[in-house]
Amino acid sequence: MTILGINAYHADSSAAIIVDGKLIAATEEERFTRVKHWAGFPAQAILFCLKEAGITLNEVDHIAIGRDPKAKLAKKAFYILKNPAGGIKTVLNRLQNSKKVSSLEKEFSAITGIPEETIKPKINQVEHHRSHLASAFFASPFNEAALLSIDGSGDFTTTMIATGKGNKIDIIDSVDFPVSVGSFYTSFTQLLGFPHYGDEYKVMGLAPYGEPKYVDKLYDVIQFTEDGLFNWNHKYFKTAREVVVTYNNDHIPRVASNYTSYMEEKFGKGRANGEELTQYHKDLAASVQRFTEELIFHIASHLQKRTGLKNLCIAGGVAQNSVANGKILKNTHFDNLYIPSAGHDAGISMGSALYVHNQVLNQPRSEPIFSAYTGSRFSNDEIEVYLKSRNIQYTRYNDTELYEKVANRLIDSGVIGWFQGRAEFGPRALGGRSILADPRRSDAKDLLNAKIKRRESFRPFAPSILKEYVAEYFEHAEDVPFMEKVFPIIKEKHATIPAVTHVDGTGRLQSVDKTVSPRYYNLIEVFRQKTGVPILLNTSFNENEPIVNSPAEALDCFLRTQMDMLVLENCVIER
Ligand SMILES: [Fe+2]
Repeated sequence: MTILGINAYHADSSAAIIVDGKLIAATEEERFTRVKHWAGFPAQAILFCLKEAGITLNEVDHIAIGRDPKAKLAKKAFYILKNPAGGIKTVLNRLQNSKKVSSLEKEFSAITGIPEETIKPKINQVEHHRSHLASAFFASPFNEAALLSIDGSGDFTTTMIATGKGNKIDIIDSVDFPVSVGSFYTSFTQLLGFPHYGDEYKVMGLAPYGEPKYVDKLYDVIQFTEDGLFNWNHKYFKTAREVVVTYNNDHIPRVASNYTSYMEEKFGKGRANGEELTQYHKDLAASVQRFTEELIFHIASHLQKRTGLKNLCIAGGVAQNSVANGKILKNTHFDNLYIPSAGHDAGISMGSALYVHNQVLNQPRSEPIFSAYTGSRFSNDEIEVYLKSRNIQYTRYNDTELYEKVANRLIDSGVIGWFQGRAEFGPRALGGRSILADPRRSDAKDLLNAKIKRRESFRPFAPSILKEYVAEYFEHAEDVPFMEKVFPIIKEKHATIPAVTHVDGTGRLQSVDKTVSPRYYNLIEVFRQKTGVPILLNTSFNENEPIVNSPAEALDCFLRTQMDMLVLENCVIER
């Protein structure tokens, strides 16, 4: 049984393929188009998935698309009546997108050359939030769990709670568009002067520089309700009148400014992009972050009480809030938490496919997913052919020599492009397409920003740590395979790893498992033998672009920046 899942005409469009329950490939379309958050039809991601599975489209049994325009139709109609001007604009925009969905066969025909009328696989539409829930639960190790999907919006829903048991998900309740935790966070992200789609993580990075002084004022913006969900004060948001996210023909998602003059009256004038970040801005960021955490605990606690379950699975854009994720177990009665590597909308492709496999086709649950390495891959031979074609000097080492060479260069203040195995599915580089540095250097952050990233100085860099040493460095010893949680670093260790210790003493860790990431594990182990520190600084391999996907993009990024060394599998290029 082969199922191809897609997230299409939505930010972070992507494709994933499942063969007999096993995830064979999953990747974002942005990795191919080189446009961040690309929101069109995932043509190249689909062709990649088919190639990885070694089949043609007509050998696929089911196609799953993670959207259902029929979802909450009555509520949509009511919304138009209530908000005549903007409501129609909003819904028309969505209908336009759903029209595209109805001509999916045409799109598949165009990319595969198979005539539309002879396309065999059945197309299944799976509601956006059901796809999120499935991406978390059916990939988790739990037979039974409480489930939460929480984001900006999708299929007229912004939050969904459910239970999962075996191969079935049962929905408990949901929150309708436009009332949304994601939109709340986005609106303050905009007010703080970060206008682009996906800028929310900047507010999360800025928050530790401030004090959460304004949390009380935020209870007027969003109200926690007794049913364990929430409502909002619409006076603060334009959403009721305007489209939130739009996609033009360039397929770049754009977020319309969502805060009202009432919001500015209460929280100060919006900061212009590039204007100085004052202490007030930092305090507001801290308050918004703290409030969002409280809101997530409120939802999760009620969900725990209501279901009596001890396992929790979360997905959706808000599940990218790794600071909140790191605090959930401590602040609720859940014992275990699973968040997939692509918790955001790219995960919709994998989720819709898993939904069809389990819920629709009633197939048995498959192995839990702890590896995000489902993307592109290149052999040493392919890499050598490419480097020769570009007349690039390189040396090919055996594995032992390679780890030695790279560890020594890291210790010698090197910034290294590390391209190994398959690319990661999801927004985090996890040692497949990473830039690495020595976490012991207090100047590593400045070095990286000067040489490559040129990003805001308040944003932290993350540690990859050998799984066995997490308890030695962090206050919690949970596995964090996908950098999906932030934990406090033990105080005595702050000075040992200053480059990956954020201003508030925390780190967004990846616990590296030997069986999942053997080569990355081995490199860190050699570094540990030489330095006593089982950690590397890990940041995504890119420079203001989607993460590099091929040796060509890795080489171009290396040549464009001041990186000291590029490692493509066993081939090493030095400056
Ligand atoms: Fe979503």
